[in-house]
Amino acid sequence: MNRTYRIAPSLLSADFARLGEEVRTVVAAGADWLHFDVMDNHYVPNLTFGPMVCQALRRHSTVPIDVHLMVQPVDALAAAFAKAGADLISFHPDASTHVDRTLQLIRAEGCQAGLVFNPAAPLDVLEWVIDKVDLVLVMSVNPGFGGQGFIDSALRKVERARRLIENSGRDIRLEVDGGIKVENIRRVADAGADTFVAGSAIFGQPDYRAVIDGMRRALAA
Ligand code: DX5
Ligand code: ZN
Repeated sequence: MNRTYRIAPSLLSADFARLGEEVRTVVAAGADWLHFDVMDNHYVPNLTFGPMVCQALRRHSTVPIDVHLMVQPVDALAAAFAKAGADLISFHPDASTHVDRTLQLIRAEGCQAGLVFNPAAPLDVLEWVIDKVDLVLVMSVNPGFGGQGFIDSALRKVERARRLIENSGRDIRLEVDGGIKVENIRRVADAGADTFVAGSAIFGQPDYRAVIDGMRRALAA
């Protein structure tokens, strides 16, 4: 398969006491995107960072900021993240009362819009809004925490999402999030993914470049 792969390190596993430095280091190590996990202690049982932190980090990054909203409600925070410098904003359709409207809102703010599917969530909604979607994000863990094990059924969902994207004829990224490491990234790509979130696999190691290079080698093999 001839695709441009993107690696999106998740700041969730970075050292929060040195976030600006962590961003610069991981970008210098070859990150294609920065994945920014927003948790609200309501939609998910954890609490991370908001638009002010995104805005503060924006000037430390030369790569797109990929905001993953795990919040409910969605709309006001999506708009705030667009103003804080996000490039892509994704949300869970079950967290928004009016999914089509939220997608329109994100795009009207000048960002790319993504839909995120939890491990037990069907892709059904995609059929009705695919013309307004720039990114599909398949969760391979239950959202809320880094460092969890990859849920294998996500591979079948990635295959299905890939078919829907191909049938749409649209240029839509297919991203996978949770439990990705050098050892399994190839399988995820073979299922049809082109963009890979990795938190603990990258920030859990002293040499970020070695991990990112290892992932690229596995993808090229
Ligand atoms: C989980 C987050 C993920 C998480 C991935 O709710 O959406 O982005 O940081 O972390 P790892 O790669 O450690 O599974
Ligand atoms: Zn995420």
